Amino acid sequence: MKIDLFKVEDWMNRYETKAVHNLAETCVHSLTLRELLSYDTSKPNALEKLMDQRLTYGDITGNPELKEELSALYNNVNPDQILTTHGAIGANQLVLFTLVEPGDHVIVAVPTYQQLYSIPEAIGAKVDRLELMPEDKYLPNVETLKGLVKPETKLIILNNPNNPTGALIPEDLLLEIVQIAKENDAWLFCDEVYRGMYPRESKMVPSVVDLYEKAVATGSLSKIFSLAGLRLGWVAGPAQFIQDCFHQRDYNTISCSMVDEALGLIAVRNRLQVWERNLGMVNANLEIIDKWVNQEPRVSYVKPKAGTTAFLKIESNMPMDEFCIKLMEETGTMLVPGSCFEREGYVRMGYVCDEMTLKKGLNEISSILRKYPK
Ligand SMILES: Cc1ncc(COP(=O)(O)O)c(C=O)c1O
Repeated sequence: MKIDLFKVEDWMNRYETKAVHNLAETCVHSLTLRELLSYDTSKPNALEKLMDQRLTYGDITGNPELKEELSALYNNVNPDQILTTHGAIGANQLVLFTLVEPGDHVIVAVPTYQQLYSIPEAIGAKVDRLELMPEDKYLPNVETLKGLVKPETKLIILNNPNNPTGALIPEDLLLEIVQIAKENDAWLFCDEVYRGMYPRESKMVPSVVDLYEKAVATGSLSKIFSLAGLRLGWVAGPAQFIQDCFHQRDYNTISCSMVDEALGLIAVRNRLQVWERNLGMVNANLEIIDKWVNQEPRVSYVKPKAGTTAFLKIESNMPMDEFCIKLMEETGTMLVPGSCFEREGYVRMGYVCDEMTLKKGLNEISSILRKYPK
């Protein structure tokens, strides 16, 4: 199957290990194994239990205790409506391979994680893009969506909170989108890997799976749990749909690592503490970038409502790929150019790294802005 280059991942692969100030990362500053284990108060503790655990394939559909904890992230989902996967990237792929067939009509809200449109396109679906615009605060425009929907529309794809813009679709707007999907008997799939990372002023938003019987959501331990190194994600959806995903998953996963699942369980079980740490960082760092944006005359943005990224508009005659390469080569500061999201003139900043990295990175961006006037 031919598929487009995954631009954001390609960019990350090229520069991530060389970055001194990595402002391209989308995870909340990752935990060390020691930090993770410090949340574990069980006796014997998780590590001790793992020592005597035979390393078999384990529970094929996912560790039952983990599925139980994950199901508690939703209002009306039980553990057999959860399937663990190799990261959310595995979860998204599974959902798309389960739902999309050649010729299907699919609508995807963009900019977003490219996987969400490149896989349906590679499968041979007819993909229409619902452009999220700064003048709408990057929220889906219901009238535009109504114009794109056809009786044969099979699937509407969202990412809420959104990467790269940090927009958060509120419940009332989600309900309007659900209504449109319902009227056309379409599936609604929402990548919710940043769900829960809501700065102070934003209200909690429900998962689509709690709003509609033909909705599917994906989640991840990488972002809001700060555990990308575990490579663990999940799909949540109607029980029959999860069975259908499981049928697909037999071909590429067998099971997730029982070590990853046992460690992931510590974080999900102790989520309130992990999130308290993480939301503290989100709030503090958002304040820092907001001040910086307000004092940089050539930088503007729609302030993020959630998630870990901001989409910055930079006034420059230089293409943003070139700007980002200069920034990286001259200062070791890494951003992601808007071309990775098909929006020239923008850069994505992942701002929930440690505070010192953020402050130093922002200073370096300012120095490059001064060095290369418009
Ligand atoms: C919107 C979105 N979905 C999925 C993923 C993949 O995450 P994971 O590390 O869980 O595979 C990412 C990673 O950046 C993302 O931003």
